[in-house]
Amino acid sequence: MKKLVSMLLIGTMALSLIGCGGGSSSSGSGDSAASEESGIKTSQEGKLIMATNAEFPPYEYYEGDEVVGIDAEIAAAVAEELGLELQIEDMAFDAIITAVTSGKADIGAAGMTVTPDREKNVAFTDTYATASQVVIVTEDSEIASPDDLTDKTVGVQLGTTGDIYAGDIEGVTVERYNKGFEAVQSLQSAKIDAVIIDEQPAKVFVEQNEGLKILPDKFTEEEYAIAVAKDNTELVEKINEALDSLKKSGKLDEIVAKYISADDSAE
Ligand code: ARG
Repeated sequence: MKKLVSMLLIGTMALSLIGCGGGSSSSGSGDSAASEESGIKTSQEGKLIMATNAEFPPYEYYEGDEVVGIDAEIAAAVAEELGLELQIEDMAFDAIITAVTSGKADIGAAGMTVTPDREKNVAFTDTYATASQVVIVTEDSEIASPDDLTDKTVGVQLGTTGDIYAGDIEGVTVERYNKGFEAVQSLQSAKIDAVIIDEQPAKVFVEQNEGLKILPDKFTEEEYAIAVAKDNTELVEKINEALDSLKKSGKLDEIVAKYISADDSAE
């Protein structure tokens, strides 16, 4: 038995040597590829594949059949700094981390909050935004603060931090939706009492839908970062350098300002 295990180990080592040591295992065609100029290892040569869930304005959403938004633009700017071509893959939010760990995608950029639990599975870059969870209710709701949520039915997007917080409130029944917007629709048709979601998409949804408001008390302070496979420390470093230069040049602020008006982001 021992022998078998060590043979397997040697086999695995040999394989990873052939694959140039670690990196993400690639889906299908390419080997773990190093882009010539940049020397960065991504799953497909010359490309930076971004996993996201494009149901989250203003960070990622569809304009026609194109995914736009703050994350899409930041990722495009980072890819440019790295000399890579950005490719966006839209998927369920709770599939993003697996896409990154399996090497199907190189990065997850989805207004993703850094949490200790997620850090067990992926590495995060430096943060690029602060955020908070807020509560949306109907304008005539008797719910005036998060404290009033006890024993209520709360809608969230599956697998988000809102999902986690809702589950922590005493007596709350959590309704999980694939899209945050579906939770909002449910609230509008009085199927649920409130929605817990990130503040910026909450603002967009409340603006676009009649009869809703955001409670003034915020739930949390969170930080968004880009998720990368744990063994690709080089990519994390390169992205951090790119983010840093985007912060210094003012490009990052410029992207954010395009999607969030100044008095909003100052809150
Ligand atoms: N910030 C929250 C989280 O990380 C929600 C993110 C949802 N993002 C999305 N693209 N749907 O859990």
